[in-house]
Amino acid sequence: MNEIAQAYLVYAHNEPVVVGVGIDLVDIARIAHAMRNPRFVPKVLTEREEAYCRNAQQVAGRWAAKEAVIKAVGIPLLMRNIEILNDPLGQPHVVIRDHRFDSARLRVFVSLTHEKTHAAGVAVVERVVLQVPF
Ligand SMILES: CC(C)(COP(=O)(O)OP(=O)(O)OC[C@H]1O[C@@H](n2cnc3c(N)ncnc32)[C@H](O)[C@@H]1OP(=O)(O)O)[C@@H](O)C(=O)NCCC(=O)NCCS
Repeated sequence: MNEIAQAYLVYAHNEPVVVGVGIDLVDIARIAHAMRNPRFVPKVLTEREEAYCRNAQQVAGRWAAKEAVIKAVGIPLLMRNIEILNDPLGQPHVVIRDHRFDSARLRVFVSLTHEKTHAAGVAVVERVVLQVPF
């Protein structure tokens, strides 16, 4: 093995790079209206998300964040296969359950917000790549 090949091996490292971004804005009244249909919430939220959400604002926030995830990932995921749960500080974390999503290499970050009339979500997808020197 020559010196250059050896240097590649020594200095090569895994580095996350951003490979996708998505955003969505939703009218909370539209979500509140949809929630009157008992089939709507189980189609959009997992049981754990449903237990967390106390109002239409929070459901709308999850709807927006999930739309943002779908845009960022570029796969038409089912909303129920995207789970957004909050850690003890309130920060939302995403888990995606779909065989088309490469969870070994991809990480998704979301942030969401809700005001009186609208909710919004944003998602960023990171992929770990082998970075070679030079
Ligand atoms: C986190 C914080 C900035 C949210 O501000 P806010 O105006 O009340 O919230 P918004 O209406 O814009 O958004 C609410 C969403 O913020 C998200 N959120 C809550 N705490 C969060 C945190 N620590 N980090 C990231 N996101 C957070 C949640 O997704 C929440 O919606 P949900 O409960 O439906 O999931 C506020 O609660 C705060 O200042 N907390 C104390 C300081 C803190 O924990 N800061 C951490 C971030 S620097």
